[in-house]
Amino acid sequence: MRDHEAMQTRPSSGEREMSAEGAALSRRTVMLAAPLALMACRRDAIAGEAGQTKPGVVPPLKSLVRFPIGTCGMSGQFDDPAWVALARRNFSQFTPEWEMKMEAVLSDQGRYDFTASDRIVRLAREIGLSVHATTLIWYLQSNAWFEALPASRFTAAYDQWIATMAGRYRGQVRGWDVVNEAVAEDGNGLRDCLWSRRLGPDGYIVRAFQQARIADPDAVLFLNDYNLENLPRKLDTYLRLVERLLRAGAPVTGLGTQSHLDIEIPAGQIRRSIEALARFGLPIHVSELDASLRREGGAPDMRSGAQRTAQQTARVEELAEAFSALPSQQQYAFTVWGVRDTDSWYRRDARDDGRDSPLVFNAAGQANPMFSALRDGFAAH
Ligand code: XIL
Repeated sequence: MRDHEAMQTRPSSGEREMSAEGAALSRRTVMLAAPLALMACRRDAIAGEAGQTKPGVVPPLKSLVRFPIGTCGMSGQFDDPAWVALARRNFSQFTPEWEMKMEAVLSDQGRYDFTASDRIVRLAREIGLSVHATTLIWYLQSNAWFEALPASRFTAAYDQWIATMAGRYRGQVRGWDVVNEAVAEDGNGLRDCLWSRRLGPDGYIVRAFQQARIADPDAVLFLNDYNLENLPRKLDTYLRLVERLLRAGAPVTGLGTQSHLDIEIPAGQIRRSIEALARFGLPIHVSELDASLRREGGAPDMRSGAQRTAQQTARVEELAEAFSALPSQQQYAFTVWGVRDTDSWYRRDARDDGRDSPLVFNAAGQANPMFSALRDGFAAH
């Protein structure tokens, strides 16, 4: 399974702007990615031969499907013409990677500042991308001001946060991740966090959905979580939570599965998880797809590069196929967590070796093997 708890740290100011650091990373990666690019070449004609140097050679990702294809990013990336060109060509939707999260908007003194969140929503819409917003309530985004509030003021402040954010972007965003990552890391029950301690384990979730619905009657409201494909036990807990929330009348109108894939899980597990999620009849969002080639923990990694890529493409193709098989009204969007490998949060992780290729495009903007995996998966239905 992907252990991404350790990675969910606040981006540095450098990351937020992405400029100098991003450029340095890209240069480093162009050199290191050469063997991988060669491998991609052999495996797949569309990414190969002369096409390797011509970014236009593969069709736009978004042209392959009828549902929205999303990516994420931070505002600094909108200053990078290569990123903007790839994003416009291949994607139709955008999730702000950081700027709409609580730590970006609400200070530890309880002050709201919408400069960054307004800007990124505007930038995305200006280049023709619809916006999916993340996230209203997340265990990782506690806030010192909230923590210090007495019980008598907590609930009103909670409601106000949700009303303010969901209300401000009403009409500008298609949907919200209302509650993110509510299920415990190992799938054993729900997470203990500031919100659950103050408002109850299911209570804070029900309330968040109710408040979001009041503030934005049109947005699709998601319960978003990760490792649902990777850990059957976690999927189970998530499904039971959805049942309880719906029974309690919470307006959950979409189910988000982040899909930070563990490429070593058995074949069929991803398809089964998408089918299980779809049984509620609600729109599904593959909300943060990436597929790291790097193993986290466990046995020493003896896999060859070719083996890893084969595992990755097989699992990604399975996901794309399972999503394509859904009825169209359940296909909210299929979102990848970044444009180029060098844009990935994995590449900013301390454990990164500079060679991971978890996304659809390489540092130079050329299609990775993952592109063909998506194309083949999407074409199956
Ligand atoms: C990550 C971003 O990619 C990072 O840039 C940021 O520092 C931390 O958050 N699950 C989520 C996303 O729901 O919001 C996380 O995004 C990745 C894991």
